[in-house]
Amino acid sequence: MKLRLSLAIAAAILLAAQAPAPVIPDEASIPAGPSGDAIRRGLAIFTDTRAAAPQHAGNQLRCANCHLDAGRTAGAAPLWAAYGNFPAFREKNGRINSFEKRVQDCFIYSMNAAPPPLGGEVLLAVSAYAGWLAQGQRIGVSPAGRGFPTIAAPPSPPDHARGEALFGEHCASCHGEAGQGMLDGDMVINPPLWGANSYNWGAGMAQVDKAAAFIRANMPLGNGNSLTVQQAWDIAWFIDGQVRPQDPRFAGDLAATRTAHHNRPWSRYATNVAGRMLGDPATTPPHHTPTGHDF
Ligand code: HEC
Ligand code: HEC
Repeated sequence: MKLRLSLAIAAAILLAAQAPAPVIPDEASIPAGPSGDAIRRGLAIFTDTRAAAPQHAGNQLRCANCHLDAGRTAGAAPLWAAYGNFPAFREKNGRINSFEKRVQDCFIYSMNAAPPPLGGEVLLAVSAYAGWLAQGQRIGVSPAGRGFPTIAAPPSPPDHARGEALFGEHCASCHGEAGQGMLDGDMVINPPLWGANSYNWGAGMAQVDKAAAFIRANMPLGNGNSLTVQQAWDIAWFIDGQVRPQDPRFAGDLAATRTAHHNRPWSRYATNVAGRMLGDPATTPPHHTPTGHDF
């Protein structure tokens, strides 16, 4: 009897340990009614930002260009893994961030845009979509697959010329020789990686280590983990050593902006690359000035 009981307990423990991870719900199961409408609206903003929230798209990117498969892909900063981990403190803005505030930051930096207001329709819709994707996830726990997989330090220092050659070989066919992406009329087929229509200097992707981690896990599209660690660093170093829109926190002093916001070993902001001072207003496309919303 005792043995049976302990066997039953052991089985229960085993079952619990092997409980399948929550299934990320299928789009077809978005409910009808007002809540479902908000979720669908969030999905539209996420996958077609310029069309669905034109005042808050400052470049040719959409959220899902980096958060792949509409925020579902593990290792590409999926929404379902993020949602239950806010509010949380962020070094970047030195305060507790609600989920909405976290999303505002991707609008400001990754989308180079004026952020939608907190509590407004756009951020409520994005939150509704993220919350719906996160149903069944545990609150306050970072699940496997959150963010980007950690990448090892580069075996040797990243190299611009090597990165350029690798970019030509593995990336330019989709993202263009000049990183400008590929358009069909107004439709962006492949997103730009640098230049006026890409993410700005304040974006996470402008940090070489983050870009290297994203690229290694997810690019070339459909062929993630095919590059070596060194190759991913070399390419990230090359891409983040290009001209892109200004960091919106720039207030006129390049060195001060570097000290305050780019004081990291891998940052190429305010450094001279191939004769150009990166981040200098003379060579930097403008940031789309926010419209006075709280951010
Ligand atoms: C087959 C075409 C293809 C190839 C090759 C490819 N990409 Fe991409 N890449 C894409 C597409 C498409 C997206 C957007 C994905 C989406 O929206 O679902 C993307 C997204 C990105 C993003 C995030 C969005 C942005 O514009 O910043 C980065 C960074 C990136 N790719 C880098 C690279 C690098 C580096 C390589 C080479 C190692 C590469 N890609 C190879 C098609 C490609
Ligand atoms: C150019 C690429 C890019 C684009 C475009 C982008 N993001 Fe992000 N996003 C990132 C990066 C990089 C991170 C940080 C990932 C990390 O550090 O783990 C991030 C983080 C996030 C997080 C927090 C994830 C977590 O687990 O804490 C949310 C939520 C988010 N983004 C939402 C959005 C929304 C909504 C949009 C569109 C308005 C958007 N992002 C557009 C690159 C991008």
